[in-house]
Amino acid sequence: MANAPEVYVNGRYLPAGEAHVSFFDWGFQFGDGVYEVISSWQGMMFRLDDHLDRLDASMHAARLDPGLDRAQWRDAVVEVTRRSGLRDAGTRIIVSRGAQPPGTSDLRACRPNVFIAASPYLFLGTEEQRVKGIRLMVAHQRGMPADTLDPRYKHISRLQYNLARIEAAEAGYDDVGWLSHDGSVQEAPRSNLFAVRAGVLQTPAAGILHGITRMPFCELAYELGIPVEVRPLTAFDLFVADEVFTCSTSGAALPVREVSGRSVRAAVPGPITRRLQDAYWRIRAEGRHGTPVGPD
Ligand code: PDD
Repeated sequence: MANAPEVYVNGRYLPAGEAHVSFFDWGFQFGDGVYEVISSWQGMMFRLDDHLDRLDASMHAARLDPGLDRAQWRDAVVEVTRRSGLRDAGTRIIVSRGAQPPGTSDLRACRPNVFIAASPYLFLGTEEQRVKGIRLMVAHQRGMPADTLDPRYKHISRLQYNLARIEAAEAGYDDVGWLSHDGSVQEAPRSNLFAVRAGVLQTPAAGILHGITRMPFCELAYELGIPVEVRPLTAFDLFVADEVFTCSTSGAALPVREVSGRSVRAAVPGPITRRLQDAYWRIRAEGRHGTPVGPD
């Protein structure tokens, strides 16, 4: 049973209705901040330390330091989720730049704000899409190059991603992926991308957020004896793939049945997608890589 939602705000647990951000916070005004989404399934949070490592990297690179050590991060994330009473949850952490103290324009003087909230686990894609697959469009706009805004920041400036989503929705597609300026496949707004060709699992090597779900999919492929290629892919690799799927905390593996008008060759979900998907939910159900978040 879900409890009334409480949000962690800078060290305090507040009812959701009282968890406010200042109008002057740079996160609100300019999308200046970083975030994480961590999933719990049957009371077990998945790969908490991997998420906190990624958060730490994003914050360090973005020069955001709210002053919490690892134990405090772990406690706050687990406690918010435990208080929610949800066994299947998505816990979101937002670290925003904060507001400047009056009288200074120095961004280094901002004190970052930390918000953490747990919501019911929300699957990316409808039940029908998880069975029949989605239609993925290759966006006309290119992804951000690493020398502008490295996609490894898990940042909250989502305008570019949201415009691509809107473009895809208007064209009748379910999701969108984009390429880098040199034509390499990057990722989707909320997921990493995988293709399967002649029994080999392929996923882009660079220009992507290092997805926490992408890791176990590669590890599970090794365990299952499925060869993995982590290398640059182009749109052509997606067009000629036997299977394509998106992969994320909220979507696990979401099969793709069409890429920009080209039908994906194998019936959806393809055999390798299905094997990986089953193996993934098995390790989730076994609580591997898990941190208990209750309730018991
Ligand atoms: N999105 N690429 C991008 C741009 C993402 O935003 C995400 C995650 C991923 C997949 O990463 P992970 O496996 O760690 O979820 C890849 C989260 C789920 C979100 O925005 O809600």
